[in-house]
Amino acid sequence: MQRGKFITFEGSEGCGKSTQIQRCVAMLETRGFDVLQTREPGGTPAGEKIRNLLQFDEEGTDLTHESELLLFAASRAQLVRRVIEPALDKGTWVVADRFLDSTTVYQGVGRGLNVDAVKEINSFAVGETMPDLTILLDLDVKTGHSRAVAASGSVEDRMESNPMEFFEKIREGYLRLAAEAPERFAVIDASATIDEVTTEIESVFNKRVGVSMG
Ligand code: TMP
Repeated sequence: MQRGKFITFEGSEGCGKSTQIQRCVAMLETRGFDVLQTREPGGTPAGEKIRNLLQFDEEGTDLTHESELLLFAASRAQLVRRVIEPALDKGTWVVADRFLDSTTVYQGVGRGLNVDAVKEINSFAVGETMPDLTILLDLDVKTGHSRAVAASGSVEDRMESNPMEFFEKIREGYLRLAAEAPERFAVIDASATIDEVTTEIESVFNKRVGVSMG
C-alpha cells in the first residue's frame, strides 16, 4: 500500500483557507484519492476540548503564552498519532487546516516566545510526521482582517481580537518560514479571485505532488 501524501494549508485570518481546502479536497476526491481533512486545534475528542479552551471558554482567558503553546502542541500530538499517521499509512491523503507552522508563527513570532524553543516543542509533538507540501495563502493584513470580520459577523475569537501589528508579524513570520524551506512551501497570492487562487493551487499540486489536472 502506497503511503498517502500529507498536505497542509497555512495563512492568517481571512486568507480564504477554508474555501480553498474544500475545493482541494473535492478536486482530489474527483481524481479518485481517498482524502481526510483535519483542522487544528482539534480533530480528536481531546483536541476539540483543547480547541474550546483555547478559543472560547472563560477558563482560557487567563492562559499564559507558554500554556497556550503547550496546549496547541498537545492537541497536535494527539491528532498526529490517533488520526493523521493511521490515515497516511493506509494510503489516505491528509489535507490539514493548519499544522506546526501555525504554532511557530502565532506562538513564536506573534506571542514573542523563543522561536527555536517553539520549533523544538513542535518537533517533539509531531515526531517524524512532516507535511509533503505546505500551501501558504499570503494576503495583506488589512484585506485579511476585513474578509475575516465579514465572514464571522462581528464575533471575533481570542486570536482574531489581536491588534493589526500582531497580524503583520504573523504574515512576516510565515514568509520567513517559507523562505527557509522552499522545498516544502508553496506561497500563493491570496489577493487574487477565489477561482484564480484555486487554479494556482492546482498547478502546484500538479508540479509538486504529481496530481494530474488533465
Ligand atoms: P482557524 O480555525 O480560523 O484556523 O483559527 C484557529 C486559530 O488558532 C487562529 O487564530 C490561529 C490559532 N492557532 C495558533 O495560534 N496556534 C496554532 O498552533 C494553531 C493550529 C492555531
